[in-house]
Formats: sequence, C-alpha cells, structure tokens
Amino acid sequence: MNYIKSKDWELPENFVTDERLFNERRKFLKLGAALAVSTAGVMDLAAKEFVPSPNLEYLKEPNLQKLTLNSYEQISSYNNFYEFSTNKKDVKPLAQNFKSAPWRITIDGLVERPIQIDMEKLMKKFPLEERIYRFRCVEGWSMVVPWVGFELSHLIKHVKPLSGAKYVRFVTLYDPEQFPDQKRSSFVALEYPYIEALRMDEAMNPLAFMATGLYGHTLPPQNGAPIRLTLPWKYGFKSIKSIVRITFTDSQPLNTWQKMAPKEYGFYANVNPHVDHPRWSQARERVLGKFLKQNTLMFNGYENDVAHMYKGMDLRKLF
Ligand code: MTE
Repeated sequence: MNYIKSKDWELPENFVTDERLFNERRKFLKLGAALAVSTAGVMDLAAKEFVPSPNLEYLKEPNLQKLTLNSYEQISSYNNFYEFSTNKKDVKPLAQNFKSAPWRITIDGLVERPIQIDMEKLMKKFPLEERIYRFRCVEGWSMVVPWVGFELSHLIKHVKPLSGAKYVRFVTLYDPEQFPDQKRSSFVALEYPYIEALRMDEAMNPLAFMATGLYGHTLPPQNGAPIRLTLPWKYGFKSIKSIVRITFTDSQPLNTWQKMAPKEYGFYANVNPHVDHPRWSQARERVLGKFLKQNTLMFNGYENDVAHMYKGMDLRKLF
C-alpha cells in the first residue's frame, strides 16, 4: 500500500513457496513425522506451522466452503501496519512490545447510548464466534484467515444509532510513544490517526466483523490488537486496526487512503477484478504461500451477500 511508485506487489521469496516444496511440507506434516526427522531444513518448515494455544472461547465455524487456511505464521508475519513500519516484514518485530491492555473504546456521535468501554468488558458483551474469511489486499496478494470476534451489527444495535446516522467512522490509536512512524513528524508515511468508515448498511451487513482474535487466540499486535475491523468483500486497507473510537455521523467521512491519494483509493474499495488500481491489475491475486496466481472474484467471492447494497451504482466511478 502506498501512493508512490514501488515494487510492493513483489512478494518476498519465503512467501512465494515453490509449489513442490509446499506440497512436500503438507505431505510431511500429514505423516506426523515432525519429531522423527531432525534435519535443519525440515525442522524449519515444521516450525512455520506454529499456532499459539487458543485462549478465547468461541463458536467454531464449520468451514463449509472448505477454504484452505493460511498458516498463523504467514498471517502474522507479513503485515501492513504503517504506524509501525511501511516494511511488511518489520512490523512484527517492531510490534512485539505494543501495549494493547488496558484498552478503552469510545463509541459516540449520533447514537442514543454513547459509551466508553474497556475492551475486557466489551468482549464479554457479545458471544465470540469464528469467521473464516478470504482477505484480499489491493496490492494483489490474498490469504484465508480464521478470525475470532463478533458481528459489527451487534455492537451497533447495542448503542442504538439515531435516524440521522448514515455512516460509521473508525479511528486507530494515536500514540507516538508506541507507534514509531507517528513519531517521525514531517516524515510520517501517512496522516495519523488512521481513519476508515462505512455506510450504515455496509456496517450492518452480517459479514462486517470486529476481530479480536486469530486462530482462537487474542490478536497479535501486528494484526491489530486488541480489536480491528474485517470486511471480506473490500480491499484490506478498509480493515482498520487497533480501534479506539467509533463515531456515527450524518456525512461521509474522508478516509486516510482516500485523503492521501484520491485517484487511487476510493471510499468503497470493494474488491472488483474489472476495475484496476492505477498500478496494480486487480484481475488476479497471489495467495500467500502459493506459487500460481488465481482469478480474483467480484466482491472477493461474497457477491451474494453484498451486491444488493451497490445496485444502481457505477462501481467504476464509486470505486
Ligand atoms: N490499520 C491501520 N491502523 N494502519 C495500517 O497501516 N493497513 C491496512 C489495514 N489496516 C493498516 C490498517 C492495510 S493496507 C491492510 S492490507 C491490512 O490492514 C493488513 O492487515 P494484516 O496485516 O492483518 O494482514
């Protein structure tokens, strides 16, 4: 993600696993041979399958679509989180001391019941469930992620929006002591705090999800701890991380990327293989860890659930 010429679409070597190696690894793990064989290379591959023990109670998703999950390692080591770094591989090490507890969220604006609530309490208000979602970045890479969290609509109903509330705006923490890039004053990569927003009907769509965990475990900081948005039919930059404020408004907010480069990033950012980004074709994508690219699907494969919200809109102009 950027707005100057770069080679961001080029994935680093270790994320573009050779197909043969990838299949070999699967075979090897199926055989359960991890402990029997100890050559350095093989152990290294096995180590990549690390998943922390679950610490959340949640309803598991049956994965009826039989999506192949990306590994925990892949999801948590290749991150866009500009507050830490513009380099995807630097985010994880830089985020390790991030303090995501205690954490307070303000929900305000055009609502009957504005609240300030601690994350711990918020998590107890709504039963947690798993959602296995495809995730598509505008840079042309994608992954499949088993998130844990709750539907955004549950939270919205809880605060009772007023009839004038037409949009929901989300804000990431602003804390230069914790986010190195926010400290760089005039050299910052983005204007902070990071802001994203949805139209009210989009926010109420059952797919819109507040993620608090990954693979059954609370979110690692690099993925947006303690709470982030996930919108599987939209490009990844809409999925704002480490949220501290949610505000209901009557006018369309200006989002961070839209403000930085309005010709490149729109308000909606729905995944659309027919409308290219000025620098990246959106027709195809590379799943992290896969060798060959695959076709990108309209609305990232969630057309039946979301297309009705955009009926009659010119999606080339309202991109
Ligand atoms: N949220 C904040 N606050 N800062 C960011 O830089 N990057 C966005 C989105 N949310 C970003 C953010 C982009 S460009 C993407 S692709 C996703 O987070 C990446 O999420 P992931 O690191 O969990 O894969």
